[in-house]
Amino acid sequence: MCGIVGYIGNREAYPIIINGLKRLEYRGYDSAGFVLNYPENFELVKTKGKVSELEEKAKASKLTANVGMGHTRWATHGEPNDCNSHPHMSNNGELVLVHNGIIENYESIKIKLKELGFTFQSDTDTEVLVNLVQYFQDKENANLCDAVRYALNEVVGAFAIAVMNNRNTDEIVVARLGSPLAIGIGEDEYFIASDASPFVEFTKDAIYLEDGEMACIRRGEKIDVRTIISNETVAPSVQELQFDLEQIEKGGYDHFMLKEIYEQPKSIHDTMRGRLLTDEGIIRMAGIWDHQERFNSAKRIIIVACGTSWHAGLVGEYLIEELARIPVEVEYASEFRYRNPIIKKNDIVIAISQSGETADTLAALKLAKEQGAFIYGICNVVGSSIARITDAGSYTHAGPEIGVASTKAFTAQLTILSLIALKLGKHNGNLSKARYHELCLELENIPKLVEETLKTNDAVVEIAKKFKDAENFLYLGRGYNFPTALEGALKLKEISYIHAEGYPAAEMKHGPIALIDENMPVVVIATKKGHYDKVVSNIQEIKSRKGKIIAIVTRGDSQVRELADYCIEIPDTAEEFTPIVASIPLQLLSYHIAVMRGANVDQPRNLAKSVTVE
Ligand code: F6R
Repeated sequence: MCGIVGYIGNREAYPIIINGLKRLEYRGYDSAGFVLNYPENFELVKTKGKVSELEEKAKASKLTANVGMGHTRWATHGEPNDCNSHPHMSNNGELVLVHNGIIENYESIKIKLKELGFTFQSDTDTEVLVNLVQYFQDKENANLCDAVRYALNEVVGAFAIAVMNNRNTDEIVVARLGSPLAIGIGEDEYFIASDASPFVEFTKDAIYLEDGEMACIRRGEKIDVRTIISNETVAPSVQELQFDLEQIEKGGYDHFMLKEIYEQPKSIHDTMRGRLLTDEGIIRMAGIWDHQERFNSAKRIIIVACGTSWHAGLVGEYLIEELARIPVEVEYASEFRYRNPIIKKNDIVIAISQSGETADTLAALKLAKEQGAFIYGICNVVGSSIARITDAGSYTHAGPEIGVASTKAFTAQLTILSLIALKLGKHNGNLSKARYHELCLELENIPKLVEETLKTNDAVVEIAKKFKDAENFLYLGRGYNFPTALEGALKLKEISYIHAEGYPAAEMKHGPIALIDENMPVVVIATKKGHYDKVVSNIQEIKSRKGKIIAIVTRGDSQVRELADYCIEIPDTAEEFTPIVASIPLQLLSYHIAVMRGANVDQPRNLAKSVTVE
């Protein structure tokens, strides 16, 4: 949450900062700001609202410096307004700071600084931090690097920060603990950003700071990386970026979300590529293979995740229990970390996270690691914090997901979980050779089926037109498609702001059925192989209460078609993989309804893509 971008080199910094902020806007869009560093003075512009509003405001400014930094905010402390926007300046006007994260003990520091005569304009923890740096700079007569280090050793919380001093236009100091920070290395220039997207067109070489590290970035010098606690020099490891500019642009689509929905045949294929080797009868996954013994002897797998990734985890539970017969528990990471869970040495804890930065998931994993569990990561962002702390893992290879509502990352997570379940089931002998082979063939065919399912778009648009003004939606499914129902409901509420609930279809009669009347649209996933007759009975129950039924059915279905008001047909596949296919029309439905309601699909209100605060 919150995006940071910075530049020091020979180019004009402003276009790099403003374009970088646009790419990082998925991390928060409550306010935006930038500062350029000219000898002896800062040009600082900030505003409530989006980066486009900042760009408008900046037209009146001098924009020629070649060092500067910017920020796009997801508000934590203090409402979104101009004053609480970043960058924040120190009392003496010499320091500016941008921050992603939360300083938990800022109140007590603020009180002490006030006693020393410091004053504060904003409600933010960030303004406290920049003044704490000033305090140490004055008190210790310290250079910027040392002053930042002293200040960071006083704070509790999470941060990625960048700091500049107007006495020196040749230096930016950055640091991280719990929030990501990447440094792009060009020829005689450096880029700073919360992820590498703002600088991918300038350089492919990047350093990802580790937790507890800071870097002094000086024009014309090698980067100086140190530990915050002990000031020890660290040799940074330079990584090559694995994506290019094209992947993070809209490519002719109106929204990133729509582009990402349409990318799914490819992203699912990419996730399987080199892993699912059907002809050879093997699934190659180094993360599992290298630790086969641990998986074979695991008494239990615990999956921790949040939001959409948690829904993927629920499908994973069905898959692994059915195909590999290993008990699985799926936990909200935010609950798991605080409820003193029982974790045993031969438990395997799998974290699922698109961003690899979700604070609660990261903390749940750390807890499991401390208690001796083997920890495994399923992440999309290469080099992310979760990917780095896990003992082993599998990347989803969905490519950058920019739309705040997760789509292609979800289906890629389901693909990885399917591969893991198949591989474990084959190895521990719970899956017969014939069934294993049959399922591998089905899985291999999924990208093609997703491609076909995308052709339901026109039919989905018609349904969206009918229900765009609904105030509530119910989503029902059973078995593998109960999590699909939860995910469909989440997609609709987060981007269209229509209240929606997902339920296991049979649970409806224990409460939600009271909501059903002629105004209630009910989306039911009723695939042929998934407790079909039972779901048909549930549909009858809705029909007799005059609910409007939108059914997702297997191609060629006639029974549900008789009952439902609207039907979307999806191609037939093994029930285990239907959540991947059935999710497609649900994603499209929420997308089209949100567009018709005039909502900002890629940047829904109050949300951010990467939830790095708890
Ligand atoms: C919903 C959505 C969120 C995320 C959740 C976890 O569309 O995107 O619910 O799934 O914030 O994020 P990651 O997967 O990055 O840990």
